[in-house]
Amino acid sequence: MTELDSLNQQFAIPGHVDFVAGPGGLIQASINNGLASAEILLQGAQVIGWQAGHAAPVIWLSKGARFEAGKAIRGGIPICWPWFGPHPETPALPAHGFARTAFWEVAHTEAFPNGATCIDFKLQASASTLALWPHEFELHYRVTVSQTLTLELLTHNPGNSAFTITEALHTYFAVGDIGDITIDGLAGCAYVDKVDQEKTKIERGNVQIDSETDRVYLDTPGEFNITDPRLKRRIHVHAEDSYSTVVWNPWQIKSEKMGDMGQDGYRTMVCMEGGNAYNNAVTVPSGQTHRLSTTYSIADQL
Ligand code: BG6
Repeated sequence: MTELDSLNQQFAIPGHVDFVAGPGGLIQASINNGLASAEILLQGAQVIGWQAGHAAPVIWLSKGARFEAGKAIRGGIPICWPWFGPHPETPALPAHGFARTAFWEVAHTEAFPNGATCIDFKLQASASTLALWPHEFELHYRVTVSQTLTLELLTHNPGNSAFTITEALHTYFAVGDIGDITIDGLAGCAYVDKVDQEKTKIERGNVQIDSETDRVYLDTPGEFNITDPRLKRRIHVHAEDSYSTVVWNPWQIKSEKMGDMGQDGYRTMVCMEGGNAYNNAVTVPSGQTHRLSTTYSIADQL
């Protein structure tokens, strides 16, 4: 029996979820429940699409994305874990950790009476993760798909001593044009400006983007909106146990160097990532579980 057959036999739910060969032949869970559709790769448990009904797609996937086993994919919702950004001591280690390129197990699928569908993924320590990060761990990730998209990442520490992580749900949102959007919810927050020597600055108002932007806002509240007059919508973000919020757009020159952003792709995306980084790093004591979650919805049609 092929891996796909086995996944379908154990976890497919007619009218909700099945497993197919996705882009580049990578295995994908396809959810389509009448309320919304979503595509999630088992590699990285990476959501690469979510669309409620006939509304425009909310998640951006680069037209230049490369789909190769074990390689980071540009777009969707990569999971940055157990470190966000470059490794703090060893820059040769993979940026944003290893969870986004690891192959996750499917643990459970469920259709709820309200029509939503969830899929649970699991990743545990193995020889290859222990070579990069010397801790036993269990990660559980639940994606719930309906008119809203909810992501819950549980970090469990089954070992004998505490460990510390930084993390982010690195969501690439689709926008009409980067120059037109406004992000609210961050006024008054301090941020590390990664394009200005990591200086700490204070956000004075709403965020608008007209050049390369790479900021890690700290001690952030949990409610944000991305107002998009061109797509005539407002994306609402509700985050829990997420004290850092990253806002990133590489703009033109960096995108061209990256090589997988697609022609002018930077104009139609913004990353707004919920997580815990810098001085919001999380220490998980032995036997304890830490939860990070976020829910996206279309708050208004403008
Ligand atoms: C963001 C970081 O979260 O991810 C940026 O703040 C980084 O500094 C970006 O460039 C993309 O990272 P990567 O590893 O996917 O190219």
